[in-house]
This record gives sequence, structure tokens and C-alpha cells, in this order.
Amino acid sequence: MRTAQDAVPGAAVLCAHRVGAVVAIWQGWELTVIVRYRGVYVTIVKEPHGVADRHDGESVMSITDDKRPRPGRSAAHELERYGALFAARTGRMRSSVMRDLMAITERPEVISLAGGLPDTSMFEPELFRSLMGQIADDSAAQALQYGPTEGLQAVKESIVELMAAEDMIVASDELIVTSGGQQAIDLVCKALLDPGDIVIAEAPTYPGAIPTFCSYEAKLVQIEMDADGMQIDVLEQKLAELEAAGRRPKFIYTIPTFHNPAGVTMSLPRRRRLVDLARERELLVLEDNPYSMLRYEGEGLPTLRSLETPRGSRDGGDFVVYTGTMSKILSPGIRVGWVVAPRPVLAKLNLGKQSADLCSSSLTQHFVAAYFATGDWREYIDVMCECYRQRRDAILDALAEHLPAEASWTHPQGGLFVWVTLPDYIDTTDLLARALQENVAFVPGEAAYDDGRGHSSMRLNFSSSTEQQIREGVRRIGKIVADQVALYGTLTGARPARAPRVAPAAEPSMAEVLSLPRRSARDRRRSRDA
Ligand SMILES: Cc1ncc(COP(=O)(O)O)c(C=O)c1O
Repeated sequence: MRTAQDAVPGAAVLCAHRVGAVVAIWQGWELTVIVRYRGVYVTIVKEPHGVADRHDGESVMSITDDKRPRPGRSAAHELERYGALFAARTGRMRSSVMRDLMAITERPEVISLAGGLPDTSMFEPELFRSLMGQIADDSAAQALQYGPTEGLQAVKESIVELMAAEDMIVASDELIVTSGGQQAIDLVCKALLDPGDIVIAEAPTYPGAIPTFCSYEAKLVQIEMDADGMQIDVLEQKLAELEAAGRRPKFIYTIPTFHNPAGVTMSLPRRRRLVDLARERELLVLEDNPYSMLRYEGEGLPTLRSLETPRGSRDGGDFVVYTGTMSKILSPGIRVGWVVAPRPVLAKLNLGKQSADLCSSSLTQHFVAAYFATGDWREYIDVMCECYRQRRDAILDALAEHLPAEASWTHPQGGLFVWVTLPDYIDTTDLLARALQENVAFVPGEAAYDDGRGHSSMRLNFSSSTEQQIREGVRRIGKIVADQVALYGTLTGARPARAPRVAPAAEPSMAEVLSLPRRSARDRRRSRDA
């Protein structure tokens, strides 16, 4: 491919020393090309002069166009120049597929089931205006000023109140405010990881955490999940294997409640076992909990943090580092999250934050403080839960109606995502290219693994589209999947199952998982035949 205009799906693109393949092209007022190589997605937007360059962190991608003169600079020269310029760790950096897809999904004609976006249109503009007006009247100078690295005291007290609502008793000096939960993950990595250190996470895991682990050059070990979340017996086995090899993970990263992307929730016995294991082996667990307040059915479960430090206990937690965020219960645009950690760890996180950004935005922290002072945060969460519950039901209905019987999916009791598993002869990255041509987007499962697994799975979000859009988006995806299943049948003689499967009703006690991508299509066929 010489120029961006030459891009066709499947065309090879030179990404520095690697060759990638074009997976999607978008011709709007500008040309957007999505390229994938080694599981990494890169978006290239054609510039008006016809040349697209982009630093994707790992290398420089160049689609050269003869019309733009680059006197004295051959591609080989530039490769060498940048190769010498970048730090070695940038070789491990990778881009987040959600970020890369944003260039496309923000177009109004695209139904995006890809992002993890809450529906911020539910927040009353009038309330927004009055809170900002109040800040302007009462504290404009402070809101425009730097603040303490650990966060404004009023915000920390709001966080203490939020956590208490989930039975977690913390003091305001046990936490620091971060620029979103994402920064909390980054700071924990920055404080704990040397290159080559092991991090354990679920398989699949939050696609936005993988680039962070990679950029600190960690080795990610992913532990299988089922309907009850991470399989702790598999974890124990893995820990024993590592120990035998003289290795020990730096921390275990988990999203126990309404997992992103799997949509499942870790059962109470597994939570208890994980906390015990952390104590027994003196291992840190990073509990990432953005979604637990978005519950649409079933009983709440204690967080790992609350199991480690039950109400009345005098000790601060020793082994659970906890991170939360305002992103899903108020706004991701304000970039306010937090992290609670044992004091020695907290001190290092604070140092890491000082060098990252000095402090989180004072303006948005004032907004959070003013919002919590209204005392209405619970009502707003109720409003969101009611809306998302209906959207969750809409997506489950639509999946049952439009996906062929070969597909399976989770039944989340809360959170924002459904994880869909397709027959393993379908590659969801290729499927995405076709889906984008039909103006619908999702996150391919590979983004949730560091080792190429997940290729026949996808994450669907149901919080940021209307019920009508969800139904239409799933209908379009279902049509493409059905075509591929039929084509496979034609090529191999395998008989496609007759009708779309109706998802089973939710278990009362936990999320229902039909399957996660460990089982091969052959295994599934075998168990269906049995
Ligand atoms: C599991 C998980 N952790 C962390 C984040 C980061 O959220 P934020 O930085 O907006 O707080 C997200 C966002 O989707 C998430 O799903």
C-alpha cells in the first residue's frame, strides 16, 4: 500500500519494522484507516496533504504519499532515527483499542457498543449550571488554583461517605484522589513494578489496564474465569508453579464486581478465599471497583477491601489496595478517581502522582465536592440503574433474537458490559472490520488478553446507546455473524444450528455465564451432543 487512498481491507501496511493489516477504512470528510498488527490497533487519519503518520508508541507508522516531498529523509533513515530516540520500554507500549476506535465511534451514524461510556445525558444540565455557578460565586480562586497532591479534603470526605455506603470504613488520610481510576492503576504499577515483574489478572481483563502493565514492562499472567469470577483454585495452582520457579507476582489485579469485560461477579466464597490467600502469602491485591454501585438485580456482595477490614476492625488493610472512580456514577469527563492503600504504599503512590501531574484538577474536584454537598448522589445512581437495567434487558433480548445458536453470552446483574463468545472459527477483529462497514462497533475480545486469546469473543456495552440503537446494533452484528456461520457451514459441511438461542434467565445469586473463551467450539459441540 503506497498511500492511504490505496487502503483496502487486508492490505499490508508497514509499521516501522512490522507489517500490519488494514482491518477497516472509513471515508468521511477525512479518511480513517484502522490497522492491526500483533493484536495492536492503530488509527491513521489521512491528513489533507495526503500523508498519514502516527506514533503508536511502539514505532512510527508511515504511509508515504509521493505527492509530499521529504527531502533527504528516506523511510529507512527515519526508522533508524526514531529507533535510536525511543526508550526501550516504549517497545512494550501498546495502544488501547477503545481509544483507537474513538475516531470512528464518535461519528453520529455509528452505533457504538464499543466504549465503556456512561450516559452523561442523564445528568441534569440545570444542576450542572447551578453547581458551576456556585463554584464561581464561592470558590473561583481555589478552583483555578493548584491543590494538594492527595486531593481536596472535601472530596476525600465524599469518597469516605461513598465507601461507607458499601461497608468500607476508611479514614480520609488512607486515600489519595487520582485523575480517574486509570491513574490509580498506573501509579500502582509505577510504585511496584520493575521490568519483568509478574502481574496476575483475570482472563479476560480490563482492556485499558493491559497497556499500563505493558508500559511498565510487566509480565502478565491471566487466570481463567467462570460464572463465579476468577477461578481461585487455578490462581493457587499458578502461584505454586511460580513459587517453584522462584517467582512471585507483585500484585493480583482483579475487578470482582460486574467485571469489565466479562460482566460476571466473583462469588462470596471466592472473595473470602482470595483475601485469605493474600494474607497467607503476603500478596497485594489491587481491587478495581468502578461498577459495584450499578447493580440492576440481586444482592450486593462485600468488596475485598471490606472483607479484609470488617467494620469495627482497627487495622487498616494490609493486602488490599482499592481503587474507585467517579467516572461511572457521576462523570468520566471530570477525571476523578481514588486509591486506598496501606500507608507505605500510599506514600509511594503520592510520590508517583507528584511527578505525573502534581495534583488532579482542582476545578473538577470542587465540582465533586459541591455535588456531594447536595446529598443527592444516591438518587442519581438510582436513575442511572433504572435506565441501564432497561438497556441491559434490551441487549439480552436482542442477542437472543439475532445471534445464532452457536453464540453464547454472559448475563450481567450490573455494570456496563456483556461478553459474547462466538464459534472459534470466527475472528472478532475481522468481524469488527465488517461491522464498521455496517456502522456498528464493539471491542474485539483479543483486546482483553495479552497473549492473543479471546479472538472469537467480543465485549458489548449497553450503557451509552438507546434501547433502539442497541437492538439495531445487535441486529447488524447478528446478521454478519449468521453470514459467517452459514459460510463456514458451506465450506466445511457443518450444519448451522437452526434458530437463535434464547438466553437463559438469570440465576438469582450471580451472573450467568454461558461460556468464556477457553472452551473451543469443538468442546462446545461435544457437550451439546452429549
Ligand atoms: C475496570 C476499570 N478500571 C478502570 C477504569 C478507568 O476509569 P476512569 O479512569 O475513567 O476512572 C475503567 C474504565 O472503563 C474500568 O472499566
